[in-house]
Amino acid sequence: MAFNDLLLKALHKEKTGRPPVWLMRQAGRYMPEYRAVREKVSFLELCKNPELACEVTLQPVDALGVDAAILFSDILIPVEPMGVNLSFNPAPLISNPVRTAADVNALRLLEPEKDVPFVYGAIDLLVKKLNVPLIGFSGAPFTLACYMVEGAGSKSFLEVRKMMLNSPDVFRELMEKLTDSTIAYLQKQIDRGCAAVQIFDTWAGILPQEDYEKAVFPHVERITKSLKNAPVIYFAKDGAAYFGTMKSLSCAGIGLDWKTGIKEADEKLGHKFCLQGNMDPAALFAGRQAIKHYAETAVEEGRQAAGHIFNLGHGIMPKTPVENVKYLVDTIKGMA
Ligand code: CP3
Repeated sequence: MAFNDLLLKALHKEKTGRPPVWLMRQAGRYMPEYRAVREKVSFLELCKNPELACEVTLQPVDALGVDAAILFSDILIPVEPMGVNLSFNPAPLISNPVRTAADVNALRLLEPEKDVPFVYGAIDLLVKKLNVPLIGFSGAPFTLACYMVEGAGSKSFLEVRKMMLNSPDVFRELMEKLTDSTIAYLQKQIDRGCAAVQIFDTWAGILPQEDYEKAVFPHVERITKSLKNAPVIYFAKDGAAYFGTMKSLSCAGIGLDWKTGIKEADEKLGHKFCLQGNMDPAALFAGRQAIKHYAETAVEEGRQAAGHIFNLGHGIMPKTPVENVKYLVDTIKGMA
C-alpha cells in the first residue's frame, strides 16, 4: 500500500480533501487488544519493551484506520533516568519529588540512546512496519516539572507554584535541564524516523498569563527552534488564554482542547498554524448523531484554518466504547 502522508500534508499547510485523523491516547485501556497485553505486563514493562510497545502502537492503526501512529510510551519515561523514582498506579507517582536547589542540582541531563534505548528500539520496529507517519512525543518542560515537583498529579499544583514564586532561579534551572533533555530526546526520535513530534503541555493552563509568558513559554520556544527535520505540534491544554503569546511560536501545529472553537483559535493565533483538534472526548460517550455533529463542526471550522488535523481535545477516556471511536474515524474519513 502507498504511504499515507495526509498528516504531513496538513502540517505543511497543503490542501487536503479531508483532514487527517488520529486521536490522543488512541492506544490504551478502552481497547480490548490493549487490555489483553496489559494483563501480562505492567505499564512500565510495556513502555520498556520495544516489541510490545510496537505492538500496542499498531493496535489502533489496524483497528481504526487512523492516519497516524503515536509512539506508545509516557511523558515521564525520559525523566526517570534524570534521577526520579517513578511508578504508575495507573497515574504516575514519584517517590522523591524535586523540591530544593540540591534536588535540582542532583538531576542529570538525559542521554537519550543510552538511557531509554527501548524508545528508539520501538521506533526502529515501527518505521519498518507503518504506512502512516509515526508521531514521536515528549512532555513540555512545565508539565514534566509539575509531576517532578509535586510527585504526582495535583489539583492546586501548590508545590510547583511555590517554587516558581519563591525560588525562581531553582525553577529556571529545573526548566533548563528539562528543556535540554527534551531537545535531545525529541531530536533523536526524529533522527530515528518519527515524521512529526508533539509536545504535551497538559498543565500549562493553570498559570497566570504573565507567568506562562515569562517562565514557561521561552523554554517551549527554545525546543521548537532547536528541533530540525520534522514538523512540531505544541498542545497546551487550557491554553486559550495564552494564544496571543503562542502566536509567535515557530512550529507547524498547535493542538487545541475542546473549549475554544477552531475558528476563534485560528483568528487569535494569526491564521498561520495547522490546528489540531478538538472534539470533546466525552462526546464519544454520546449517540452517533451527537458524535457526527461535533465531528462535522470541527471539520467545517478546520477548513477555514491554515491547516487542520482532526483529533480530540484531550486523550480518549478508558471506558470509551470502541465502536463509537470507530464510527468517529469512519465519519471523518467519509468527508473527502
Ligand atoms: O496512545 C497514545 O496517546 C500514546 C501513549 C501515551 C500515554 N501517555 C500512555 C499511557 C501518551 C502520549 C501519554 C502522554 C501523557 N502521559 C500525558 C500527556 C497527555 C495527557 O493525557 O494530558 C500525561 C499528562 C501523562 C501522565 C500520565 N500517564 C497519567 C496522568 C497517567 C494515568 C492516566 C489514566 O488515565 O489513568 C498515565 C498512565 C498512562 N499513560 C496510561 C497510558 C495508556 C494508562 C496506563 C495503564 O495501562 O495502566
